[in-house]
Amino acid sequence: MDLVALVEATPTGRQLWLRGAGRSLYPLLRSGDSVRVLRCEAEGLARGDVALMKVRRQLVAHVVVSTQPLVTAPLLGGKKDPEGLPLGRITALRRGSLLLPLPRVSRPTLFLGQRLLAGLWSRPKARAVFRRLRDFTVSGWSRPLRKRWLGELEVRLLRAEDLDALLVFAGERLLVPSPFLRQQLLGRWTREAGSMGAAVGAFDKKGRLCGFAYLDDYRQEGLQLEGLWVRSLVVAPRARRMGVAFQIITCLMDEARRQGADRIFADIDDDNFASLRTFRRAGFRGSSTELTLQVNSEWSASGGIKPLVVMECELN
Ligand SMILES: CC(C)(COP(=O)(O)OP(=O)(O)OC[C@H]1O[C@@H](n2cnc3c(N)ncnc32)[C@H](O)[C@@H]1OP(=O)(O)O)[C@@H](O)C(=O)NCCC(=O)NCCS
Repeated sequence: MDLVALVEATPTGRQLWLRGAGRSLYPLLRSGDSVRVLRCEAEGLARGDVALMKVRRQLVAHVVVSTQPLVTAPLLGGKKDPEGLPLGRITALRRGSLLLPLPRVSRPTLFLGQRLLAGLWSRPKARAVFRRLRDFTVSGWSRPLRKRWLGELEVRLLRAEDLDALLVFAGERLLVPSPFLRQQLLGRWTREAGSMGAAVGAFDKKGRLCGFAYLDDYRQEGLQLEGLWVRSLVVAPRARRMGVAFQIITCLMDEARRQGADRIFADIDDDNFASLRTFRRAGFRGSSTELTLQVNSEWSASGGIKPLVVMECELN
């Protein structure tokens, strides 16, 4: 779990509450939950503790899997971080009004739980079963229930005060670095008069972001492509198949039109049928072969693997 420091930090003596985003302690912790941290050195940590670590420039909460040397790992296994710097021990977590203490007696359970879950998660079959279950829960049958749970969704342009909600959503669902989002949201997307670009979010009745995309110049990300592109379109599974992506795209189209753009572009993995279908429904059509080749060559030079379909929509 990547922790967003200073968003909700209220020190009480040597303890600190931090709000988290990311998936390294999923399913124990989810995006938006908070953790209480007791500062300590490596010597104060034992196997099965949940440690707050500084890994490169990020704060993460991981389970301690060994102490000599200190090695920590996500709850579902995966990349271990032997070089992280320990900052403290997580002593409780909070989800909404629920407070769950993590006393020292819970260490053996957490340690064994981590080993069991990591073992299961490393098997492709177990992951496939989990994905099937997850897809089932976002299918049409659960839509009425999900609609009631989410309440009326509001799809609108993001404002500077939406930064916290965006960073929590980004930590869980986006691959875009937080500093980039912060800089763009507080600059180009909301403040700079005359600059192009915008970000749109879908908010549930509790004000949580459950869908997002932005429109910007690709050169902001180092790719030499002209025009404005729809980027990072993601809808949280709980809000899928309700037309949220369609509304986000049409809101970006309206804003691009208002800013004077005559067309906008999108690039989509060639096997992403849900996304291709949504863009087509919003009026996007395939771009020229020349542009498609250019995008794919820029994309593979920057490390992309899958072929991309390039689409564009004329705004008249
Ligand atoms: C792609 C994504 C954004 C769609 O969001 P959404 O809010 O569910 O989309 P909408 O409800 O507006 O429309 C989805 C369309 O795709 C169809 N669809 C949804 N899931 C589908 C699936 N698994 N297979 C095929 N079609 C699917 C829907 O029937 C709908 O088509 P219709 O409008 O003709 O009925 C969402 O699935 C997502 O976030 N996926 C992961 C991230 C991603 O792939 N982003 C796109 C990057 S370009």
